[in-house]
Amino acid sequence: MHHFEYKNNCLYCEQVKAEDLAGEFGTPLYVYSKRTLLDHFLKIKQAFAFLKPLICYSVKANSNLSLLKLLLDKGSGLDIVSGGELFRAKKADCPGEKIVYASVGKTVQEIKDAINYGILMFNVESEPELEKINAIAADMGKAVKVALRVNPDVDAKTHAYITTGRKETKFGISPAEAEKIFLKEEFYPACSISGIHIHIGSQIIQAAPFVRAIKRITAMIERLRSRGVEIDSLNIGGGLGIVYDKEKPQTAAEFAARVLPLLKDLKLKIILEPGRFIAGNSGILLTRVIYVKETPLKDFIIVDSGMNDLMRPSLYQAFHLIEPVTKHKVKKIKKSKFSDIVGPICESGDFLGRDRCLDVSQGDCLAVFGAGAYGFSMSSQYNSRPRAAEVLVEGKKARLIRKRETYKDLISKELF
Ligand code: LLP
Repeated sequence: MHHFEYKNNCLYCEQVKAEDLAGEFGTPLYVYSKRTLLDHFLKIKQAFAFLKPLICYSVKANSNLSLLKLLLDKGSGLDIVSGGELFRAKKADCPGEKIVYASVGKTVQEIKDAINYGILMFNVESEPELEKINAIAADMGKAVKVALRVNPDVDAKTHAYITTGRKETKFGISPAEAEKIFLKEEFYPACSISGIHIHIGSQIIQAAPFVRAIKRITAMIERLRSRGVEIDSLNIGGGLGIVYDKEKPQTAAEFAARVLPLLKDLKLKIILEPGRFIAGNSGILLTRVIYVKETPLKDFIIVDSGMNDLMRPSLYQAFHLIEPVTKHKVKKIKKSKFSDIVGPICESGDFLGRDRCLDVSQGDCLAVFGAGAYGFSMSSQYNSRPRAAEVLVEGKKARLIRKRETYKDLISKELF
């Protein structure tokens, strides 16, 4: 359920017309619905209420401070993967005890900053990293909590670039290696190694891979407990898929129904790290048609937004629904004529959608749906294009939450 709907052929975000937002704030423009964002957070919270988990929203999906604050106000924690995300978490006033920190490449400075802020735990991805964290914490005279990120070698059946739970990937530690580390915890006196973390991939639409991964981990926990190792937390990661096209992803409740029975008797603090599920369908990207270029093969709808604003179609061949924000009453085109919606960037891979049937003309405004997660956060200034503005809608009100970048911003760090 999201709050982007057509009424009388006009697209609304909550109670605001998308066309008006494009007029007032310009395009390209990211538009977020507060209600949709919070509804999705609450759906997960309710589905897992029985376990009272800590839900750590995955900042990488969309790291705008205003969105972080909305989620923090509802009790969310944050899953971070860099010093920059830690900085954002601090700016948004996230309590340290609600922050979990993953990433295969934490630097010394990042580790120090996280210890200083008093984060809940590090999700450690290799033994050299554990050694480093232990040495830094010992130096600082602090004790830190660590979860080992275990790579359960499960195929999440999603795009190869966003599959993370197979042994071929750079993520996590194999169960056998992790067990060895748990058994020699005394080698790391500044670390309390008492948690397990898994994250097997993203945009996973079925529960089966999660179930398989969790079963491998619960078996591991039993083995460890029988050998006297105390495990007190299990972070089952993020990865819940959403609807972009015709997918039928599990709902939060369906997911919980499959996963809860595996977790309910384990006496563990459960952590979840959803990103896309919360932010994905809460945002759209508005873009305007600059030209329609007709060719014998197909038409090219050239818009003012490209792979620099929304990289997912170019990088993962991801599908995003694209519709005019104001639909014409009379259809002008034949169904047989297909168009590519492309940006102005000088690359053939610069497209937002391909082979679509769209009835649009120059100047029309289009909405690219499902752009709330991994949209703005992956955007760049490639081709020296200032990044888009971001707007948050709440009921009838719309508020700018990030200014459009200017040409000056493009060169502000350059020295010549
Ligand atoms: N936890 C960890 C350790 C992660 O690496 C990720 C995402 C998440 C949680 C959140 O996953 P989510 O619930 O959003 O699926 N740029 C790609 C997605 C990359 C995901 C990276 N890690 C895309 O646009 O599809």
